[in-house]
Amino acid sequence: MSELLQVDDLVVRYGNLTAVDGVSMTIRPGEVLALVGESGCGKSSTARAIVGMDRPADGTVRFRGDEVPTLGLRRRRPEFTAVQMVFQDPNSSLNPRKRVGEQILDGVRAARARGLESDEPGTWLEAVGLQADMVSRYPHQFSGGQRQRVAIARALAAKPDLIVADEPISALDASSQASVAGMMRQLCLEAGAGMLFISHDLSVVRLMADRVMVMYRGAVVESGPTSLVWGDPVHPYTRALLAAIPHPDGKGVLPEAPAADAPEEWASRVEEALNRQIAA
Ligand SMILES: Nc1ncnc2c1ncn2[C@@H]1O[C@H](COP(=O)(O)OP(=O)(O)O)[C@@H](O)[C@H]1O
Ligand SMILES: [Mg+2]
Repeated sequence: MSELLQVDDLVVRYGNLTAVDGVSMTIRPGEVLALVGESGCGKSSTARAIVGMDRPADGTVRFRGDEVPTLGLRRRRPEFTAVQMVFQDPNSSLNPRKRVGEQILDGVRAARARGLESDEPGTWLEAVGLQADMVSRYPHQFSGGQRQRVAIARALAAKPDLIVADEPISALDASSQASVAGMMRQLCLEAGAGMLFISHDLSVVRLMADRVMVMYRGAVVESGPTSLVWGDPVHPYTRALLAAIPHPDGKGVLPEAPAADAPEEWASRVEEALNRQIAA
């Protein structure tokens, strides 16, 4: 099977705390998989282990069949630049002392080092809704939302096969969140890349993800095609999440902090809720 990303039984620990407790997933080319769940459930820890920023305590992460080395993002072998990460805070992705055109050029060079064509930095800025002549600016000369667009352009310029985006739109103003998410999906699909899209905004997830994984306290409690999970949630936690959405059109944002009075059943393992499939 030609999986782009294959994660098996991933465990991430910080001292005694098990932040990720046996997460498995696959992503195929051209597929957007969303990872949702309340703050602190282990989404970012999962993402960092997938791109090799954190060493898993157990389990494996394979990209195109090869185990992803834990090296940090800047010291990777060229083939692993095909995995790009976009962080919630664009300041984590960008160097404040370098013109954005040069930073996007780093992405272009990473693509070229893998034998791929990539556009000029100005063209990438236009692709994310900015102007080509902004290449000579420094990050501080952009608004927060524009900076995130630059970070996205930089990641895309590397012509990734897989983008791991950890709450990439949370820092944007509300009016541009859906359009930037839509743009990321579009550019990803055009390039035949896959994406792991982490968000606590369920309305955006519903619009952009082919499949969704619901995480609760370090474990996946429900997974399957987005339409199926939305239309007919099986796990009690997923049901509670979707029921808490205030609008009938599915708009809604997950709570910032785990519920202190969470019912015991939210942590239960419900076999039918995992790897759900639409009946043929
Ligand atoms: N570097 C770290 N050191 C210690 N604990 C951490 C670290 N990063 C995350 N954690 C803890 O691991 C758990 C999962 O965090 P995280 O993966 O950031 O969740 P999420 O992204 O879903 O909000 C939380 O309890 C968090 O406090
Ligand atoms: Mg996080």
